[in-house]
Amino acid sequence: MLVRDVVRRLESLSVLDAPGKALQNAVNAAIDPTPVKNALNGTWLGHPLHPLLTDIPIGAWGMAVALDWVGGKRSRPAADRLLALGILAAVPTAASGAANWADFNDDKPRRIGLVHAAANTVGLTLFTASYVSRKRGKRLRGKAYGLAGMGALTVGGWLGGHLSYDLGVGVNRTAFQSTGPSAWTDTVALESLTDGKAHLTSVDGVDVLLVRDGLGVAALADVCNHMGGPLHEGPVADGCVTCPWHGSTFRLADGEVVRSPAVSPQPRYETRVIDGTVQLRSGH
Ligand code: FES
Repeated sequence: MLVRDVVRRLESLSVLDAPGKALQNAVNAAIDPTPVKNALNGTWLGHPLHPLLTDIPIGAWGMAVALDWVGGKRSRPAADRLLALGILAAVPTAASGAANWADFNDDKPRRIGLVHAAANTVGLTLFTASYVSRKRGKRLRGKAYGLAGMGALTVGGWLGGHLSYDLGVGVNRTAFQSTGPSAWTDTVALESLTDGKAHLTSVDGVDVLLVRDGLGVAALADVCNHMGGPLHEGPVADGCVTCPWHGSTFRLADGEVVRSPAVSPQPRYETRVIDGTVQLRSGH
């Protein structure tokens, strides 16, 4: 209960909004070239890169601290190398986390993400101090810094879990929605669609984006898998649709991500036109 209370207070800290938004603008300006943004978000991986990378510093630092206290003298070189590995791995880990966070536009996840980053930065500083102390021959001080670093890392990790499991950040927003009809199902008349314009329809309770291209029609789930934005409100150009909320761009032909922050392909539907009516079924 105490932990929950603390988190609720952090979520309501509006004082974090101004620095948070300024930092988001700076991060977005720094990673704007699409390949960099896609690489850091994990588009090439098919799910967010940040949770995968966090395993390296957490694992390396956790083992370093364990060897410090139970490994004996012979473990000292291994502990020092693990500490250095964690410090090096923290750089891309932090960059990927910042890339994810820079697109949060809801207050709660933005605030919690900022505190999560601050706790992890304190952790990185303490582990760096630990490494420097060891190199200066102050091993006991280095071990103490390492232990304190684990404390900060635990706070940061807990808040990261809260972001994912309680606030749903990084979760594919189409994961729990129906896949749509498996049999061909009538939707709208082809002539009611304007070439190259987004059109929203609903099939079996699922919102579907339709975009006509001559005699063909592309169909994607309308709910953006990044954070639930309405794709039919975004621009259509060059065979792609762009989400109006954070700019994720999906190829209409197959739903693949062209531009992050989305990292998962958008669910797509097969279409055909029978007697002037557009039919669709779930893509396979
Ligand atoms: S909701 Fe974030 S890009 Fe669509």
